[in-house]
Amino acid sequence: MQALSLNIHYQLFPTIDELAAKDRLLLHCAQDSLGKSYSPYSQFKVGAAILLTNEVILQGANQENASYPLCLCAERNAIALANILHPEQAIATLAVVAAKDDIFVSPCGACRQVIWENEQRSGQAIRLLIQGPAGSFYLFDSIKALLPFGFSGSDLG
Ligand code: THU
Repeated sequence: MQALSLNIHYQLFPTIDELAAKDRLLLHCAQDSLGKSYSPYSQFKVGAAILLTNEVILQGANQENASYPLCLCAERNAIALANILHPEQAIATLAVVAAKDDIFVSPCGACRQVIWENEQRSGQAIRLLIQGPAGSFYLFDSIKALLPFGFSGSDLG
């Protein structure tokens, strides 16, 4: 038996001002997407914005349904849009924010798996820029930080 551990690398920015201009712009686009959230059931507005490698920015927001399991997360809406409109462009960065301050907007497990699929698809790591508490932001260099031992197409054999 071996007891092993994994390290997760990420950067913490106490305020948005400490981020690069390109990342600040993407976060502002994600914040703008909050206005497109349809979340009458949870009242939890989530906004996402994607920067593609060709510099195009796309937005996403959560879309809920009276049949709760049909609710769609902001991240997956944005990714689906990117895959449909620009299938040849890799996703460089995905920004995620919520209308509620003071929380870390943790992407759900389903979204992590879909982000993982997109990394595999393009062969390029996706930077994740996520709202943290008290005006802070977290930057992860790849979904691998949030989904260790992820399941891929290659596992199907
Ligand atoms: N939600 C997202 O949009 N992204 C996440 O990563 C977590 C949850 C949405 C889904 C639902 O509309 C609401 O937040 C409450 O779960």
